Amino acid sequence: MSEKNFYITTPIYYPSGKLHIGSAYTTIACDVLARYKRLMGYDVFYLTGLDEHGQKIQAKAEEAGISPQAYVDSMAVGVKELWNLLDISYDKFIRTTDDYHEEVVAQVFERLLAQDDIYLGEYAGWYSVSDEEFFTESQLAEVFRDENGQVTGGIAPSGHEVEWVSEESYFLRLSKYQDWLTDIFKSHPDFISPEGRLNEMLKNFIEPGLEDLAVSRTTFTWGVPVPSNPKHVVYVWIDALLNYATALGYGQEDHAGFDKFWNQGTVFHMVGKDILRFHSIYWPILLKMLGLKQPDRLIAHGWFVMKDGKMSKSKGNVVYPEMLVERYGLDALRYYLMRSLPVGSDGTFTPEDYVGRINYELANDLGNLLNRTVSMINKYFDGQVPNYEENVTAFDTDLAQVAAASIADYHKYMEAVDYPRALEAVWTLISRTNKYIDETAPWVLAKDPAKRSELAAVMSHLTASLRVVAHMIAPFMMATSKAVLSQLGLPEAGSLEELKLADLPSGLTVAAKGTPIFPRLDMEEEIAYIKGQMEAGKPAAEKEWKPEEVELKLNKKEIKFDDFDKVEIRVAEVKEVAKVEGSDKLLQFRLDAGDSEDRQILSGIAKYYPNEQELVGKKVQIVANLKPRKMMGRISQGMILSAEYGEQLTLLTVDEKVPNGSLIG
Ligand code: MSP
Repeated sequence: MSEKNFYITTPIYYPSGKLHIGSAYTTIACDVLARYKRLMGYDVFYLTGLDEHGQKIQAKAEEAGISPQAYVDSMAVGVKELWNLLDISYDKFIRTTDDYHEEVVAQVFERLLAQDDIYLGEYAGWYSVSDEEFFTESQLAEVFRDENGQVTGGIAPSGHEVEWVSEESYFLRLSKYQDWLTDIFKSHPDFISPEGRLNEMLKNFIEPGLEDLAVSRTTFTWGVPVPSNPKHVVYVWIDALLNYATALGYGQEDHAGFDKFWNQGTVFHMVGKDILRFHSIYWPILLKMLGLKQPDRLIAHGWFVMKDGKMSKSKGNVVYPEMLVERYGLDALRYYLMRSLPVGSDGTFTPEDYVGRINYELANDLGNLLNRTVSMINKYFDGQVPNYEENVTAFDTDLAQVAAASIADYHKYMEAVDYPRALEAVWTLISRTNKYIDETAPWVLAKDPAKRSELAAVMSHLTASLRVVAHMIAPFMMATSKAVLSQLGLPEAGSLEELKLADLPSGLTVAAKGTPIFPRLDMEEEIAYIKGQMEAGKPAAEKEWKPEEVELKLNKKEIKFDDFDKVEIRVAEVKEVAKVEGSDKLLQFRLDAGDSEDRQILSGIAKYYPNEQELVGKKVQIVANLKPRKMMGRISQGMILSAEYGEQLTLLTVDEKVPNGSLIG
C-alpha cells in the first residue's frame, strides 16, 4: 500500500434545506485536511456530495409541487455554488441519483441477498423521517401514550417525531457480525477519533447486542428499487454509505480510482457525532460483507450550536455562511470555524467571538506583524530583505526554538486533525515574533550604525517567521497565506515538508507599502449586524433555480442521438384538467395520447394558468415513456412540455388537425 494515497470524504448532505455554518464546518474541515495533505506531498482524492434519496426528500419535493429529481437538481446547484464560494477543493461531487451509483447500489443489494446477508422479513417499529432512522421504543427520548397506556408515538433522541411503520422489509444481518465488529474495535483502538467515541459506540450500541437492520422500504418510491422486488426501495442509509465506494469506481468497469485510493490508500471519513453510529457499525459491516478493506480512520466532530441550543429556523438563530463571507471575507470564516470548535465537544457560535477573533487574532496579531515588518524593511533597507543569518542578536536562538517547536506542534496536531491546537501553535509563533520586535527594538538599533548587522538580522528573522506562518496557514486561509507571502516578495506556499525558519530565500524585495490583510472592525456595530442578519434569517430564502439554469449549472453532458431517440414525445389532447387539493403548484390532467386508455399527468404549472379550464381541448406535447411516478400521492404518467421565458410559461401546443398520439421527433 502506498502511504501517499489519501482519500478523504465528507458525509453526503441531505439537500433538504439551505446549508448553514454547521454543514460548512465539516466541508471546510475536510478541505483543510485535503489541502494539508497535498502540501505534504500526498496524492489526495477529496470527495463530497449529496444524499438525495429517501422519504424526507420525497416529502420536500411534494411540498414544493415538483418532482423529487427536479427538487434535488435545483438544490444541488445551490450546494455547488456554496462550495465554490467557500473554495472547497473537492475532486468529485457525488449525487446518489447518479446512474453509476444507483446501479452499484442495486447490484450490491442483490449480491448480499444472494449470499444471505440480507433476508426478507417484517418490520414493525418507530421511524424518524427527519433522521431517516429506525428506533426501538426504549431508544426513544420521549414516548406518547393514550389513556389506556398504549404507545401512540414518540420523539427520537434528535428531537424529531417518529411514526409507526409496519411493512414487509428486507433485513441486513448485523447480528451475525457482532463478534467480528467487537474484535475490530478492540484491536484498533485508534480507528475512531477523538478518543472516547469508540468506547461509547462499543458500550452503547455493540455490546447491548446488534439487531438486524431493516434495509428496504415499501411506503414510498424515491430510492433505488430492489431489482428482484421493485416494490421495495433500498434504505437510504445503505444507499448513502455506499457512495464512498461507488465514487471511486467500485463495482464499475473503471475501478482504477478504487484500487488506488481505497485498496492502496489511506481512507479517512469525517462525520458529525450524530452519524458516527452509521459509519462505525453499519459501514464496517457492509464492507466486511463485500470482502472489502476497512477505512483507516473515522473522525467524529461535535456540533456548532448557539447560545440557545441547536440552530433552527424557528428560533431565528441560524447563521448562513454566505452572509459572513460577504461581509468579512472567506478566510475569516474558515479561520473562525476551524479555530473555534474544540475536538470532541460542541462549540458555541457567538457574534462577539466572531468579530473578536477577526480583530484580535487576524487584524492585530497577524495583520500588524506583517505591516510592521513590511514598513520597517522599507524604511531601514529600502525594501530589500537582508539575508538570513543565525544567532546574530541575543533573541534569535529563542525565536528559532519557538519556531521549530511551533512547526513540530503544528504537524502533530494537523495529523491528529486537531485544528484549534494546530492554529494555536501557529499563533504561538506569531505572538513570539511580535514580542521579538519589542525585545530587539529595531527603531533603537536603527539609530546606531554599529548595530546595522543586528538590525538586518531582525528584519530577516521577521520575514522568515512570517514565511513559516504563511505556510502553516495555507490549508486554512489560502488568500491570506498568498497575500502575506506576496507582500514579502515570496511565491505562494509550496511544500510544508521540512519547513524551516532558516530556509528564507535571499534577495527578496517586499511590497512598497503594506496592505492590511484584515480590516479592524467596530465591535459593537458588527455584533449588531450579525445579530440582525440572524434574526432576519438571511439569506434563508431558498433560491428556486429555474430548470434551464439547473441544466446549465450542473453541466449536463451532451447526449448521443441514441439517448435522444429513447425519448418518446407524442401529441395528446387535454380532456380534463383540475387543481390539486393541498398544492398551489400542481394541475392534474386527463389526456388522450392515442393509447387505449386516457392517461393522467400532474404538472407544476398552476400559477401560469389561473383559468386552467382554457386548456381543455388543446393539443399538447407530452413525454410519453417517462417512468410513472407519484406526486402528492397521485400517479403521474408522463410530462407535458412547455417553454419558460422570463417569469412566464406556455404549454407547447400543436395544430388541431394532428391526430392524438402522433409521434414528434
Ligand atoms: N445524509 C446524511 C449523511 C450520509 S453520509 C453517508 C446526513 N446528512 S445531514 O445533512 O443531515 O448532515 C451532514 C453532516 O452535517 C453531519 O455530519 C452532521 O453532523 C453535520 N452537521 C449538521 N449540523 C451541524 C452543526 N450544527 N455543526 C456541525 N456539524 C453539523 O446526516
